[in-house]
Amino acid sequence: MPQPDVAPVEREPASGLLHLRASGVSLVLDLRDDGLPRVAHWGADLGDLDAAALESLALAVVPPATSNTLDDLGQLSVLPEHARGWFGAPGLSGHRAGADWSPLFRATSGERSTAGGTQRLVVEAVADAARLGLTLEVELTASGLVRMRGTVRNEHDRLPYTVDALMLALPVPSEANELLDLSGGHIRERTPQRQPFAVGARVRDNRRGRTGTDATLVVVAGAQGFGFRHGEVWGLHVGWSGNHRTYAERLNSGEAVLGGGELLLPGEVVLAPGESYAGPWLFASYAEGLDQLSHRFHEWLRARAAHPTRSKPRPVVLNTWEAVYMKHDHERLYALADAAAEVGAERYVLDDGWFRHRRDDHAGLGDWFVDDAVYPQGLHPLIRHVRDLGLEFGLWVEPEMVNPDSDLARAHPEWIMATGGRQPMLSRHQQVLDLGNQAAYDYILERLDSLLSDHPIDYLKWDHNRDLQDAGHQPGGEAGVHAQTRAVYRLMDELKRRHPGLEIESCSSGGGRVDLGVLEHADRVWASDSNDALERQRIQRWTGLLLPPEMVGSHIGPPHSHTTGRTHDLSFRAGTALFGHMGIEWDISSTTAEERAELRRWIALHKRFRDLLHRGTVVRADHPDPDVSLHGVVDRDGREGVFAVVSTGQRAWTRPGRVRLPGLLPGTPYRVSLLPPADTAPTNDTSAPPWLAAVPLVLAGSVLGNVGLELPGLYPEQLLLLHVAALETDGPPVSGGHRRRS
Ligand code: DGJ
Repeated sequence: MPQPDVAPVEREPASGLLHLRASGVSLVLDLRDDGLPRVAHWGADLGDLDAAALESLALAVVPPATSNTLDDLGQLSVLPEHARGWFGAPGLSGHRAGADWSPLFRATSGERSTAGGTQRLVVEAVADAARLGLTLEVELTASGLVRMRGTVRNEHDRLPYTVDALMLALPVPSEANELLDLSGGHIRERTPQRQPFAVGARVRDNRRGRTGTDATLVVVAGAQGFGFRHGEVWGLHVGWSGNHRTYAERLNSGEAVLGGGELLLPGEVVLAPGESYAGPWLFASYAEGLDQLSHRFHEWLRARAAHPTRSKPRPVVLNTWEAVYMKHDHERLYALADAAAEVGAERYVLDDGWFRHRRDDHAGLGDWFVDDAVYPQGLHPLIRHVRDLGLEFGLWVEPEMVNPDSDLARAHPEWIMATGGRQPMLSRHQQVLDLGNQAAYDYILERLDSLLSDHPIDYLKWDHNRDLQDAGHQPGGEAGVHAQTRAVYRLMDELKRRHPGLEIESCSSGGGRVDLGVLEHADRVWASDSNDALERQRIQRWTGLLLPPEMVGSHIGPPHSHTTGRTHDLSFRAGTALFGHMGIEWDISSTTAEERAELRRWIALHKRFRDLLHRGTVVRADHPDPDVSLHGVVDRDGREGVFAVVSTGQRAWTRPGRVRLPGLLPGTPYRVSLLPPADTAPTNDTSAPPWLAAVPLVLAGSVLGNVGLELPGLYPEQLLLLHVAALETDGPPVSGGHRRRS
């Protein structure tokens, strides 16, 4: 499993007040007694504090006792304990036949270490009366992200312990009085919603057995009115692809926490004596504005040894789905490969429809053999053709699913997840294959392994097209989502171990499995089944809250979107896809030579700036007009950037005002130019501002960041791309994205 760190370089016992600092963040943990670690501060960097200053800080944050509360002050640790007077959601819920439900933990040891820029604290604890052990791991990564996980052990010599929930939490200060989270659904993932952070719990539960197209990637609490560029924010993400909870809770005392963990179904985790359960990793980001909050996630991902851009640039993809759907007409598939090569694509992905019985979505899932009715000579000739053109080959699979109309379901009905002696409701005519059943797991592993061994396949698009409902193990019907989630991770790891270099895309009805749990095993996500560029502007903006652009599949769809009925110019579609892991999902074999030439220019533009786009810092402006949005990527040293000014609708004001370009160096002059081929984007000429005719023009970073540029009168659903490059006074000229950084 990829981890960011190499061997630890320092280890020491930990006690007292610990001050961890990284990238403008301070995390002060209180281990002065034998309680679990308490957070005295998680927020802005406090500078160098000596022992006395830390003691004063710890004193300053002790609240007063108020009337009609417990006589002793309650204590909130990263695992909130009812036994220590926390009346919010407890960290550990569980019992032994009704007993041992309120454990009181006592820390027995603490160890601090540093590795690869990550500072790490491990606390061991026991609950004597409840006979439980606990390990808490809390890290502050080099990018300023708090990462933490709990593991509970049953230390009883005879009796099992049922774990109902293991949730960790971090306190946020009273300044955090507004909440932001995301909702959505299929083809409309990542819809932001805001509300006051009032007394009570805002609970985002997901019981879909996958992360969910409606999942909030992050729950953010912030100072009222916070935006991308301003306002203190504290955000939390649960890195888990099964059932999970993310919550924000404020007690009537005003104390507030962000927390989360796995949402266990009844009986999923019953620990025999000596057994343990590890919850998922939680990731928490404190920042000044959402851009910085995202940046900490992005930088953490990029620091991992297995991050995909470490080995090579992200290849431009041609995916066959919207070109042929399940009609695998050979002539078209070969022509698509030719056209893909012609326009500069680098990876060809054969989507759904290549395996036995899969002529439509009623049948075939589970029968992972190449359909010799459709491919009489197997996949080899097509793969050879693709590879001869210089493209990598990728294949679509949906390993966790089975159609009742399949040889697999007919042979092994007991491998279908079910409970109550009945079949779950169908969704897309399919059921879930029980990977918690060893025989089913072995079958699927063998099938995928054989496909990968028999063919030169560089990439799996790993799909998962239904929620898990009534997902039990047959014949008893015990709940199986926890085991299923772990099994999928294991399966991905095992295939990667057997096939080094294999990449996996996490797709789930579009963006239904987007989380940092699956991305320990997969390399990118499919953000949405909507390739409508207008929808994509929103979806990508908010997926970017968690993920850097190079991990987000972003394809140019056909002019007419099948998910919304809208029609968009190539400039809007391509300018939208440009910023992510770019691809094409359109029948370009039936386009004109002119259209392909234009497409080729867009792909060349992406390649020219790919290094910058996939390594730089994502910036998004807060624009007062909801129909104007600006986003961009700025080189790590702030000397070069690519920005998109996007018109998402008809604006209310006739003079739409200015747009600021954030992230640049105030004291540096920049040359501002329009990027071809976007300089042909249709504008309403009557309202073109004079600066447009003057490009390339030189403007100071302070002017671009604080004054901005008058917006051109873009038509709705159009965008303009700007390239901004520092005028070099020393060193080589900046010319656009091809300076590699270490
Ligand atoms: C859902 C995915 O999100 C689509 O991209 C496509 O692969 C279909 N499944 C295929 O069935």
